[in-house]
Amino acid sequence: MDARTAELLGSALSASGPIVFLTGAGVSAESGIPTFRGAEGYWRVGSTNYRAEELATYEAFSRMPEEVWAWYLYRRGVCRAARPNAAHLALVDIERSLEARFLLVTQNVDGLHLRAGSSPERTYQIHGNIDFMRCEDEHPRVRPIPESIPFDWPKAHALGDVERAALRGCARGAWARPHVLFFDESYDEALFRFESTLRAMKEAAALVVVGTSGATTLPAHAVDLAVRRRIPLVVINQDQSPFTEAAGRSPAGHVLLGTAGQHLPPIASFLRGAR
Ligand code: OAD
Repeated sequence: MDARTAELLGSALSASGPIVFLTGAGVSAESGIPTFRGAEGYWRVGSTNYRAEELATYEAFSRMPEEVWAWYLYRRGVCRAARPNAAHLALVDIERSLEARFLLVTQNVDGLHLRAGSSPERTYQIHGNIDFMRCEDEHPRVRPIPESIPFDWPKAHALGDVERAALRGCARGAWARPHVLFFDESYDEALFRFESTLRAMKEAAALVVVGTSGATTLPAHAVDLAVRRRIPLVVINQDQSPFTEAAGRSPAGHVLLGTAGQHLPPIASFLRGAR
C-alpha cells in the first residue's frame, strides 16, 4: 500500500466516527458478475426483447411483471453461481479490525458481501438484494424468493405455472416484486437505509470508495459530503470516474487506480497491523 493511503487511513484511525466503505459492481467483477456499464454490463445487454434501462423500472414491472421477473431470476442465478473474491474477503477482515467503526454501504444486490461474512448490521444494501422479494400493498415485508424457483434460470426463459404461483403470493394474488431499487424509484430509510447512510457520512472519519462509476445519487451525496467535510477520501477504481475526479479535487483525496482485489487486501493488512 502506498504512503499516502497509509497517511490518510492513519489520520482517520486517530479521529472519531465511522470509516465508511462504499462499494459498486467493480467489487464483484472479479467474481464474474458483469458490471452495469461495462462492455458486457447489464445495462448494455438487457433481455432478448428489452434494454436493461427499460426493464429495471417500476413502470416496466407494473406493465410486464413476467418479463421483468425472468430477467431478475436470470441475474439472481448469475449472482448465486459466483463466489466472493479477495476484495469481499478483505472487507470482512477490515470489519474485524475496525469493529464498531466499520460501515459498508454497497450498491451491489448480489449478496456477496454477506456471503463472504460481512455482518448484516454493518452492511447497508442501498439497492436491495436480488435473493429477496416483497409485496407492495402490505407493510413492506422482505422475504426470500421461494425455494420452488430454481437458481439456474436460463437467459430469456419465460415463467411457468410454478413460478407464477410462487411470485403471486401477495394479498389477492398480486405479484411480489424483486427487492431492488428500480431506476425510477427513490431511496428510503426503511428499505434502503437512506438517512442512516447520510447520517454516517456526516460523522465519518473517512470514506473509501471501491469499484463504482458514480452514476447513482446516494453514493454521489456520500462522496460530496466527504469532499465538503475534507475527510480522507480514497477512491479505488479501474478507470477514471466522477469519484476519482472528486478525490483529485479534495485536499484529503487519493486515487488508487487498479482493481478492488489488488488494492483492498493491502488496506486490510494495514488496518489489522494498526489495531
Ligand atoms: P458500474 O457498472 O456503473 O461501474 C462499475 C465501475 O467499476 C466502473 O467505474 C469500472 O471502471 C469499475 N471496475 C470494473 N471492474 C473493476 C475492478 N475489478 N476493480 C475496481 N473497479 C472496477 O456499476 P455501479 O457503479 O455499481 O443501481 O452501478 C451503480 C448502480 O447503477 C447499480 O447499483 C445499479 C445501476 O443503476 C440500481 O440498480 C438502482
